[in-house]
Amino acid sequence: MSRDDKTIKDFGEQWRQYSDNEGYYGSVELFSDILFPFLAVEEIKGCRVAEIGSGTGRIVNMLLEAGVQHIVAVEPSDAFAVLVRNIRNSEKVTCLKITGDQLPTDGNLDYIFSIGVLHHIQDPTPVVEAVLKALRPGGRFLVWLYGKEGNVLYLALIRPLRVLTKRLPHFMLASLVEIMYWPLVLYIKCCHRLPLPLRRYMLSVFEKMSPRKRRLIIYDQLNPSYAKYYTRREAETLLIDGKFKNVRPHHRHGYSWTVIGTKP
Ligand SMILES: C[S@@+](CC[C@H](N)C(=O)[O-])C[C@H]1O[C@@H](n2cnc3c(N)ncnc32)[C@H](O)[C@@H]1O
Repeated sequence: MSRDDKTIKDFGEQWRQYSDNEGYYGSVELFSDILFPFLAVEEIKGCRVAEIGSGTGRIVNMLLEAGVQHIVAVEPSDAFAVLVRNIRNSEKVTCLKITGDQLPTDGNLDYIFSIGVLHHIQDPTPVVEAVLKALRPGGRFLVWLYGKEGNVLYLALIRPLRVLTKRLPHFMLASLVEIMYWPLVLYIKCCHRLPLPLRRYMLSVFEKMSPRKRRLIIYDQLNPSYAKYYTRREAETLLIDGKFKNVRPHHRHGYSWTVIGTKP
């Protein structure tokens, strides 16, 4: 099995264990934070959009709440069944169990989103190429990627740990997450008083999640076979090399990259 196929399999299992989108994790408030500073939620109203790598459908439901006209939701893993089950207004959504590079290239979409997905694909170039073809001229592609900058200490810890954790069966990984959860709660408390690494992320995003979603986020860092942490240059280059114009990066909460580009 290729590394990409193994990653897709890992997510299929992950989303069957963590299948809901409760609280802040599935909220329009979080969506607005993800889109900042490039788009306001209101700008998407009435648009034709796609999301690459929909997982449990939280972004799809956020887009529906934002009032989009139609969504193509792409999810290649066995989480597809979870996605279909979680979608709130299925008339406006076309779900496709395909990889991102197989996105239908009709050239009529206003926006395509890929949130937390391309960093799990070894060579995302074919996906970016398919996105370019699927958009209308002037259509925009917004991606969110793990960042290297701001994560140096975190990566020094997580990289050696992942060598083991990405191989663990669910019950062992879930037990490890439980052990890590409580020190992390203490770390968040310390972040209120001290300028610790990842402080902005901890206080702006992680702390707002329910306990169950915090556990999922830890699990999500440790589970997938492949995860790349992008530098600003790599993140920009992904879209520039994909022939997008007006490519702009944003260092979201100092730990990740949101990048937007426009189809010429
Ligand atoms: C971290 S999850 C993000 C899910 C969703 N975008 C969200 O923010 O909740 C990454 C998703 O990308 C999917 N994925 C992995 N490889 C993919 C590929 N080649 N094409 C499309 N999706 C892929 C996985 O199955 C997984 O559901």
